[in-house]
Amino acid sequence: MSKNWNLNIKTFKVTVGLSVMLLSGCGKVKNSSSGDAATYGSNVVGSVTFKAAHPVLSKHCFSCHGGWAAYSEDDYVTNSLVERANPDNSSLYTRTRGNDVGGRQDMPIGRPDLSFDEIKALKDWILSM
Ligand code: HEC
Repeated sequence: MSKNWNLNIKTFKVTVGLSVMLLSGCGKVKNSSSGDAATYGSNVVGSVTFKAAHPVLSKHCFSCHGGWAAYSEDDYVTNSLVERANPDNSSLYTRTRGNDVGGRQDMPIGRPDLSFDEIKALKDWILSM
């Protein structure tokens, strides 16, 4: 009996969690029930790939490049950090350690490399532009 009850609670949590995720996925939802929207940028406006890349930038770059926090996708282009669909020619990508470009890779200065998935999120975003 108590086992079933636990199971029901779990199912309920998963169902509610999925609903929140689905609703958030629709784009215009500004709030996150997880409470870390400020850090992880769930209120970011832009493409799906930008929304995936933004938390990476937020975690690894904004502490020094504070101005970027307010950048739209286009702002990265107009400020010559990103060339659309060309990560190999985007300094934001080529200067980030862990990429597959080679050459000058020193960001984030004095901090650990980004993970494969984080690098991929940046690359996928730039490729999708
Ligand atoms: C600990 C501070 C620090 C962090 C964290 C950091 N940077 Fe930088 N970044 C700098 C400094 C200082 C410069 C200017 C000197 C230079 O170009 O090397 C710079 C310059 C750059 C430049 C050259 C263009 C520009 O705006 O000046 C790029 C591109 C860049 N960083 C990308 C990144 C990316 C991408 C991340 C996150 C993955 C990151 N940085 C994280 C300190 C940091």
